[in-house]
Amino acid sequence: MSNLELSTLLLNWYDANGRELPWRVKGVAHPNPYAVLVSELMLQQTTVKTVIPYFYRFMERFPTIKALAEAAVDDVYQYWQGLGYYSRARSLHATAKVIVQEQGGVFPRTRQEVLKLKGIGSYTASSFLALAFNLPETVVDGNVIRIICRMYHLTVPVDEIRGVIEEKAKGLTDIARPADYASAIMDLGAMVCTPKNPKCQVCPWQKYCLSAGKDDVERIPVRRKPEKKEKYGRVFLIFNAAGGVFIRKRTEKGLLSGLYEFPWAEDDEKPSGAEEADAEVSHIFTHFKLVLRLYILKAENYPAEGRFVNLKELGDFPMSTLMKKVWAAGKECSLLKNNLHSDTRLVK
Ligand code: ADE
Repeated sequence: MSNLELSTLLLNWYDANGRELPWRVKGVAHPNPYAVLVSELMLQQTTVKTVIPYFYRFMERFPTIKALAEAAVDDVYQYWQGLGYYSRARSLHATAKVIVQEQGGVFPRTRQEVLKLKGIGSYTASSFLALAFNLPETVVDGNVIRIICRMYHLTVPVDEIRGVIEEKAKGLTDIARPADYASAIMDLGAMVCTPKNPKCQVCPWQKYCLSAGKDDVERIPVRRKPEKKEKYGRVFLIFNAAGGVFIRKRTEKGLLSGLYEFPWAEDDEKPSGAEEADAEVSHIFTHFKLVLRLYILKAENYPAEGRFVNLKELGDFPMSTLMKKVWAAGKECSLLKNNLHSDTRLVK
């Protein structure tokens, strides 16, 4: 099956099943590039369903690029209110001004020129040029990546094969009807080749898709797991004159519930007199990595529920791996060895 035959199959499906959307005229490029510009900016981080009423209101209030260029930016924000990511509104307004004031109200038609406009990156440049001027540009968004990876059963993490995906997407793009093709592949991703429960039975590419109906279809595309979020905090080893160290019991609910720990916090507060030790302890939990900087403090009491325990007894109190690491790091740290407990035999 050639690429041309595949794109024809998709376009036939689109002609019969594609969505009717207010910024789209099926069969041709949109006669109003301004409408395409507004909708593409709105759709950058927002779903089609949410955008529709905003698009209507915006186009009624700012019906032309000139009307938008002449409006006050606060007025533009007003009509963006609720869509979020307000930098998009600012960019759209700035772009309208540039086109009206510097380019005589004429929209640019080359990728190079379009990319100079505020708020327009590679994806939006392609969708704008394809949808507004029927230029043979290929849109590659999350939907298209999913479709291409499934079609060719690409199971390598997306980041590693971006070039391959783009080449394949380009190869499939119909050069006779790029505007419809861009809309068609977006619709296929939104309506048929969905992340969960893809409707392979009604897909125009089903017979040629290497993943259709396979057990792993929902696992494609493969994305590398994001790095675990890091959280930072401070942990305090607090010693009293009798050589005890302060511990507290965690609540019975939540992370590491019921275990004992040295006081620690994620905030920037530290008790006065706490000396920073040259030690850091980290631990990886399911959803994040916690990095604790160690502090040493001499005190007879501490404003938290808990108690001082003799170091000999410390082993009787169950502690998490993280807190065991804290204690091990504490024992190694010169501040503790030289300064605080030269007089005790307890810190070995
Ligand atoms: N997402 C981004 N651009 C779109 C468009 N023109 N139609 C539908 N969904 C989109």
